[in-house]
Amino acid sequence: MSTPQRLIGHRIRSRITRWQTTFPYHWDADEFVSRRQMLRLTILSSGALFAATAGVVGLNYARPIKTTTSRKAIISASALPVGKVHYFEYPAPGDQAILLNLPHTGFVAYSGKCTHLSCAVYYREDENRLICPCHDGVFDPQTGIPIAGPPQRPLPKITVKQDGTMLYALDERPQS
Ligand code: FES
Repeated sequence: MSTPQRLIGHRIRSRITRWQTTFPYHWDADEFVSRRQMLRLTILSSGALFAATAGVVGLNYARPIKTTTSRKAIISASALPVGKVHYFEYPAPGDQAILLNLPHTGFVAYSGKCTHLSCAVYYREDENRLICPCHDGVFDPQTGIPIAGPPQRPLPKITVKQDGTMLYALDERPQS
């Protein structure tokens, strides 16, 4: 590289601080990066990524699921035949919840948020199971208890009460 080019390169580099570079070697020095340095950088990056992922998983397990109480109309009882599902939002807008009308059991409702990593759970009528597609988690629709896959905790249960023709959600409680 000629002297003027080196000078321009030096000026550009001097404006970029070391922490701003994702890979702390400049173009003209990349041939000096040893395999060992490259490996060290790769291991450090992988370690940081692993630690961040473990932190997210740990937070999900450590965060207590609280009981929420608020009365909210869901749907008319006659609008949900036996064996069918109705998705609604409870306790807050955007919180997915599932109402089922099960044979012999009647109306049951759960939080629609998987207890593994919070993906949306849905009901498969043909298998009579609550499924989480993210990691193939499966919950028993009668109880909300996990029966397959990584989830360890049951789905929080929503108390449902029929008042006249209308079904109401009263509260959402964690199950042990
Ligand atoms: S988020 Fe549901 S099984 Fe992983």
